[in-house]
Amino acid sequence: MSNKLVAGNWKLNGSLAENKVLLDGLQSPDGVEVAVCVPYPYLAQAGLLLKGIALGAQDVSEYDRGAYTGEVSASMLAEFGCHYVIVGHSERRALFAESDAAIGRKAAAALSGRLVPIVCIGETLDEREAGQVMAVVGRQLAAVLDVLGVEAMGQVVLAYEPVWAIGTGRSASADQVAEVHGLIRAWLRDQGVAADGVRILYGGSVKPGNAAELFALADVDGGLIGGASLVAEDFMSICRAAV
Ligand code: G3P
Repeated sequence: MSNKLVAGNWKLNGSLAENKVLLDGLQSPDGVEVAVCVPYPYLAQAGLLLKGIALGAQDVSEYDRGAYTGEVSASMLAEFGCHYVIVGHSERRALFAESDAAIGRKAAAALSGRLVPIVCIGETLDEREAGQVMAVVGRQLAAVLDVLGVEAMGQVVLAYEPVWAIGTGRSASADQVAEVHGLIRAWLRDQGVAADGVRILYGGSVKPGNAAELFALADVDGGLIGGASLVAEDFMSICRAAV
């Protein structure tokens, strides 16, 4: 497995002035790969200001070109220097009705445009309490595998983000993260995917205070960071914990 990957997901935050302060405060520590996934209008600004940090977007169209008002294609993102794109974040699933199948098609579009999709998966609290974590995560993964096939599935980054841990300040415990990440890796292997090469990130209330414990877990290959990626000092401290 390569270095750990720590990616910031800015969500719907930023302004030209705020971004400059934040971006000027980022540098990539040796031994960890750092990325920031910014809103579309700020891709050009971030591309100019980032040094040694990968650029990403937060969504991508499943279409490449044509009469799809409001959509942004993978090839457009690549032209702006994107390497990564988040696909299937739970906020897009829940608030914008993205289906498992559409997320699979977006992951395929990203790979066709030479982007690396960071595919988000994870259960709600009700689903966890009903003992359905792997049923849900397996269903979400299967929808992506159906579209991509086994070989391309080995090229995605996965982000396990339990919905109940996102933006709540309540991270999943180390035991919970270790268990689900291990099960995801085993699920991939069972399907014939080259599972050892797939980075599985954890996301959900990662902070400077819990990052080192989470990143030390066997099947955790980095993190997808929301709120804490908006403060340079906090994000850098999380990145250093992944070295
Ligand atoms: O994609 C990152 C994410 O949803 C986690 O957000 O604010 O809990 O770190 P946060």
